[in-house]
Amino acid sequence: MTTYSLLILPGDGIGPEVMAEVRKVIGWFENNRGLSFDVSEDLVGGAAYDKHGKPLADETMAKAQAVDAVLLGAVGGPKYDELDFSLKPERGLLRLRKEMDLFANLRPAQCFDALADFSSLKREVVAGLDILIVRELTSGVYFGEPRGISADDTPGNEGGRVGVNTQRYTSGEIRRVARSAFELARKRGNRVCSMEKANVMESGILWREEVQWVHDNEYPDVALSHMYADNGAMQLVRNPRQFDVILTDNLFGDVLSDAAAMLTGSLGMLPSASLGAPMANGRPKALYEPVHGSAPDITGQGKANPIACILSFAMCLRYSFDLGVEADMLEKAVEQVLADGLRTADLMGPEGGTPVSTSEMGDRILAALSAQ
Ligand code: NAI
Ligand code: MG
Repeated sequence: MTTYSLLILPGDGIGPEVMAEVRKVIGWFENNRGLSFDVSEDLVGGAAYDKHGKPLADETMAKAQAVDAVLLGAVGGPKYDELDFSLKPERGLLRLRKEMDLFANLRPAQCFDALADFSSLKREVVAGLDILIVRELTSGVYFGEPRGISADDTPGNEGGRVGVNTQRYTSGEIRRVARSAFELARKRGNRVCSMEKANVMESGILWREEVQWVHDNEYPDVALSHMYADNGAMQLVRNPRQFDVILTDNLFGDVLSDAAAMLTGSLGMLPSASLGAPMANGRPKALYEPVHGSAPDITGQGKANPIACILSFAMCLRYSFDLGVEADMLEKAVEQVLADGLRTADLMGPEGGTPVSTSEMGDRILAALSAQ
């Protein structure tokens, strides 16, 4: 029997509260589906700083490199706001992403029918929405050189300064994230729409050519289309259901993934994954985490919505372990509790519902799993 190794890093604030519900879900799959997980737990962020004086211990980093997948809750909190930049809780998360070389950031935007009225768009535009944005995460304009602010004495330049950032992509960087997108598409709707600005940027021309090359040579079975990113932004709010997987660079992906997220409602519902190169066992390096932060305003009150973290684990089942059936089961269980009207505080809209705490939501999801 395959045993899947997981490193759980609950982190700070509501991180441990939502992760406790994921632990229950893991236990359910072990007891009811015969799956075997080797779970270890460690500290990240402020919790790691409190114990080790830094936001990620070297031993924890080594563990993260060795496991099949890392699940992270959230990091940060007001207690750590005055810390030196290099010691801040966020640095723990950034170190994980950097040293694991997680170049593909996955942000699904999925609209559960029961929450369609939460969207800022009309129900008929978003109902049934299920798209996945794959954003390149480790290169592009946020990292390219040269960069900086310097003096510029061009005649007529009032103020005498210039700010520079460089959009730079190598073909290798484009190909590897394109492969991730095509692999993911094969596990979903088998369609990829790649977005850049090849009309005005050379890096966009290279992006388009390299994505097409990977498609033609390695994934001819996946349907590929290209779109200028500004049109992509319009299409996302006009008719988002036309997309399956959207592949885009770091900058456009930052903006488009946040816009797409809001098509579906609460921050407490949004999962994410960051994937790197395949390991020896063929699985990609992987870190799964909810999009939300540590929510200090509701910490310790049983108010946190555990669904973002639970759906992150569903992504782990699907994308790290190829357990698509189990991932579907878990997503269906979430859909069921929402259809039953169960609502953590963040999901309480004008139409009401049955208020539940963090752990009640987890219990009801287990019950919905058992009822399938
Ligand atoms: P946040 O995401 O923690 O909270 C924003 C708002 O959404 C708050 O009102 C919060 O109560 C609510 N919220 C968030 N997650 C929720 C959930 N699961 N259920 C119900 N309500 C939820 O962002 P904020 O307030 O800007 O940052 C708080 C701390 O978290 C800061 O220290 C920040 O640096 C850190 N942070 C960490 C992230 C991470 O670990 N990846 C991401 C974003 C922020
Ligand atoms: Mg952003």
